[in-house]
Amino acid sequence: MQKFEQDDPVLDRFHFLVNAPALFNAVTTAAEIGIFAFLSEKPGAEADELRAFSDLPAHQLRVLLQAVCSTGLLERRDGGYHNSTVAEELLASDGPDSWRHILTGWKEVYYPAFVHMTGALRAGTNTALDTHPGDEPTLYQRLAHDPQLEEVFHRAMTAFTLRSVDALVDQPVFAGIRHVLDVGGGDGSTSARLVARYPGLQSTVFDMPSVSRLAEDVQADRVDLLAGDIFTDPFPEGHDAVLFSHVLEIFDGDDILRLLRKAYESLPSGGKVLLYGYNVSDDETDGIFGARLGLYFNVLVSGRGMAYPARDYERWLGLAGFEQVGTTGGLSYEHGLTTGVKP
Ligand SMILES: C[S@@+](CC[C@H](N)C(=O)[O-])C[C@H]1O[C@@H](n2cnc3c(N)ncnc32)[C@H](O)[C@@H]1O
Repeated sequence: MQKFEQDDPVLDRFHFLVNAPALFNAVTTAAEIGIFAFLSEKPGAEADELRAFSDLPAHQLRVLLQAVCSTGLLERRDGGYHNSTVAEELLASDGPDSWRHILTGWKEVYYPAFVHMTGALRAGTNTALDTHPGDEPTLYQRLAHDPQLEEVFHRAMTAFTLRSVDALVDQPVFAGIRHVLDVGGGDGSTSARLVARYPGLQSTVFDMPSVSRLAEDVQADRVDLLAGDIFTDPFPEGHDAVLFSHVLEIFDGDDILRLLRKAYESLPSGGKVLLYGYNVSDDETDGIFGARLGLYFNVLVSGRGMAYPARDYERWLGLAGFEQVGTTGGLSYEHGLTTGVKP
């Protein structure tokens, strides 16, 4: 039997990943306590200062700091603690794009579900949804029963959107668009960024009523809200582009095709469809963000969907009738933009 080499990089990765759940929680705890924010203000603070600030018992703080230092996110020099450059940029602030919100969302919504993974994948459905009140088939609908968790969830999603939206906003295609229908536009953060960048652009955010309520906080000029169900309610008319940002990956091929056909019907000739989100590689071997997302959808959210490879989206656009189909890949966080034009 062939033996692996001790310097095999897969071995290093294996060692990291088997400890990762504990380290993920340590980093999240440090972020929630405000350790990265504190060290941003007081770089080089020693354990005593961190203890006074955090109110953690000395021994437990020692354990936590060692764990976070082992990830490289905190550094210890001459007894004092410092944020690494990555921690300073991603975790120190409490702004709407802070990774702090993403970590809390993943801790409270995503990762508790993954203990149900074997059963859910065997059952072929999202059995982890049983842990959320209600009887609706998707997490999005059930979160409406738990406004506090829904807010945690949307704060995390908004933070991630803000982290990944620049690559979308930078796409030259928007310069030629007058009015975009942002289907499943969540709390409107993407639309707000788009209209801020393109002064001639108007957007309509179409999402469920409970989410539209959250969108009222993000109000921006030239962004209006349409509350409804994207499957059962008709798409409005009057726009020249339809955007699906982080939406189609939730569904299976049949429902994706239904939505793309609705988009096609609602557009004038020359209108564009824009699909933005995670893509795993075409051979389906690469993509760790995509992997996490696909598992989360299948175990918890909807029991289907994945971060489909771009070629799947291109095929569905063709089936829905769109032409000039193509993808700009390799965007940040494994994102791609697949577009098509209605002939
Ligand atoms: C992953 S979020 C994406 C939000 C936003 N577009 C972004 O990029 O951050 C998916 C959105 O689809 C919405 N959604 C899912 N199913 C829906 C339905 N049947 N009707 C209306 N909205 C739906 C959810 O409420 C959620 O806001």
